[in-house]
Amino acid sequence: MQNSPLMSLRRKRTSEDGEIIFYRKGHSIEKLAVIVSRNLRKRFGRIQALRGVTFSVSKGSATALLGPNGAGKTTTLKILLGLLKPDSGEVEVFGMDPWRKGDKIRGIVGVLHEKPVYPQWASVRQLIRYAARLRGLGEMDEERAIKLSGLERYAGARISSLSRGYLQRLGIALAILGDPELLLLDEPTANLDPAARMEILNLISVLKEELDVTVLISSHIIPELEMVCDSAIFINEGLVLDQGSLDELARKHNSRAVVVIRTRNPRKLASDLIGRDYVKSVEVSSESVKVEVMPGELPTLESEISRLGGKYGIERVESAAGRLQDLYWKVIGVAR
Ligand SMILES: Nc1ncnc2c1ncn2[C@@H]1O[C@H](COP(=O)(O)OP(=O)(O)OP(=O)(O)O)[C@@H](O)[C@H]1O
Ligand SMILES: [Mg+2]
Repeated sequence: MQNSPLMSLRRKRTSEDGEIIFYRKGHSIEKLAVIVSRNLRKRFGRIQALRGVTFSVSKGSATALLGPNGAGKTTTLKILLGLLKPDSGEVEVFGMDPWRKGDKIRGIVGVLHEKPVYPQWASVRQLIRYAARLRGLGEMDEERAIKLSGLERYAGARISSLSRGYLQRLGIALAILGDPELLLLDEPTANLDPAARMEILNLISVLKEELDVTVLISSHIIPELEMVCDSAIFINEGLVLDQGSLDELARKHNSRAVVVIRTRNPRKLASDLIGRDYVKSVEVSSESVKVEVMPGELPTLESEISRLGGKYGIERVESAAGRLQDLYWKVIGVAR
């Protein structure tokens, strides 16, 4: 069991409407936790779905909630939205109890449900307009959601004609209506082919920047999530096994980090990097250099790359061996 995040959190400020904001001692204001959950338990008949779920999500982060089927991801997200009442434990979203302040929370949280059901006969725009009106929003919000989610070409199309990838875009358009402060995305890439998965993850990255929103994404499809997420929570059989920023987790679990750098001068870049003490190995090919760094040293390499970019004509940097994949097996694989 890890330490409870609440142990290091203090109540800092109470705003006029009674909203309580948490912050971590010694951290800057950006590190505010927008979700804090402690010891959540939830039973469905004979199934104990959550057995004491404790975690926090920092403001501005993109956090992956990772675990196998049945781990408790959807149950946790439903509790955060006030759609399910936990049997015991504490949970606060923007300082509010989701069960008691569900309406308020759902007003500032955008959600993509795991298995959304849409009226097949409606057009994309009709459904988005309907959802916008329900939330008291106007045509500008509707157009913005269509544009940001890349649905302009399909705005007039019937929902029944959309591919799975575009159905997910529709779900995302509905989630971002009204500029939410937090996005909860339950398996946004499930059942998509690899190209569509990439497109959706790219879209989420762009939206995160564009809307300046905190994102919590649940998934059991790991490697690609590293494109979007800077933090992770690993959950299995109703318990959080570990959590933290990817850098912290990688350091803690001695995770492998391999990066492929596309460059016009692979040999020169390789001979420069091999001398650094945080570099474990270097492999050169005609147009790239594959670098493995010591555990937890990826940020050092990344800042080095941005300094050396011009000197060696660096064109692109790709993550070769996903740290998340590696971490997933280290944290969850061992526990199974
Ligand atoms: N409404 C319900 N009634 C009975 N059991 C439920 C209900 N909802 C969830 N469960 C059970 O609780 C456990 C956790 O389910 P949950 O849906 O939270 O898992 P998950 O991590 O989202 O899994 P998946 O990756 O398959 O979506 C599972 O054993 C599931 O069968
Ligand atoms: Mg689920």
